[in-house]
Amino acid sequence: MCLVLHYVTALLCFVYMLQISSSDNNASNDNLNPAWSYCFEFTWFGPTYDNTTRYNGTCSDYLEERGVDGIPCSPPIVITYNGTFPDMDYLWKYHRSSILCRRSTGQVCARYAFYSNGAMQNATYMCTRVQVEGEGPVTRGCFKQKVRDDVVEVCACESGRGIYMPCNLNFH
Ligand SMILES: *[C@@H]1O[C@H](CO)[C@@H](O)[C@H](O)[C@H]1NC(C)=O
Ligand SMILES: *[C@@H]1O[C@H](CO)[C@@H](O)[C@H](O)[C@H]1NC(C)=O
Ligand SMILES: *[C@@H]1O[C@H](CO)[C@@H](O)[C@H](O)[C@H]1NC(C)=O
Ligand SMILES: *[C@@H]1O[C@H](CO)[C@@H](O)[C@H](O)[C@H]1NC(C)=O
Ligand SMILES: *[C@@H]1O[C@H](CO)[C@@H](O)[C@H](O)[C@H]1NC(C)=O
Repeated sequence: MCLVLHYVTALLCFVYMLQISSSDNNASNDNLNPAWSYCFEFTWFGPTYDNTTRYNGTCSDYLEERGVDGIPCSPPIVITYNGTFPDMDYLWKYHRSSILCRRSTGQVCARYAFYSNGAMQNATYMCTRVQVEGEGPVTRGCFKQKVRDDVVEVCACESGRGIYMPCNLNFH
């Protein structure tokens, strides 16, 4: 009963990103420190973008063009050749230094994703603070909210120290 209420509260109260990390994603800066905690940080633009519909703007260009506010987008922007979800093993192997952020105390590894008819439309991975209204800071779990015809899901976890694929790889 409590859990259900807790969940309903989360549904009613918007989950909001308080702070979006602005790491510089400099790919040549590859000196990861095993004493630090990392999270995946990038934005996958979803199935409508592929090698025929590349996007050469930045996250800010994108948000400005669409006139949207309050939606996270963390560079780098990831678009796959055929529009399918990125191959995380490939990203980890060849682009590790540009798709990670250092998680600082108080931050979580998060994934903020839009779903339409159950299918993921896009997703932003980041180091951030997640706050559920009325509950304070969230350190783990997934929260959903309906936004018009879409569902926005925010998932959070805390990565440990070391250089391995961070916990916001997968939440199911
Ligand atoms: C990335 O880092 C390298 C070496 O630290 C530096 O020379 C280069 O200017 C940086 N690039 C950007 C885009 O910040
Ligand atoms: C994308 O690149 C083309 C050619 O370089 C340029 O004309 C266009 O303005 C760019 N679009 C954006 C959104 O930056
Ligand atoms: C993700 O998809 C939603 C729904 O189509 C859209 O409103 C939003 O701007 C998109 N966000 C990003 C970062 O692509
Ligand atoms: C796009 O990728 C597909 C494979 O997914 C390939 O067959 C096609 O030639 C590519 N098109 C361009 C313009 O690169
Ligand atoms: C898309 O490309 C990936 C990687 O090249 C491949 O594994 C996957 O089967 C492709 N999916 C479709 C639907 O073509």
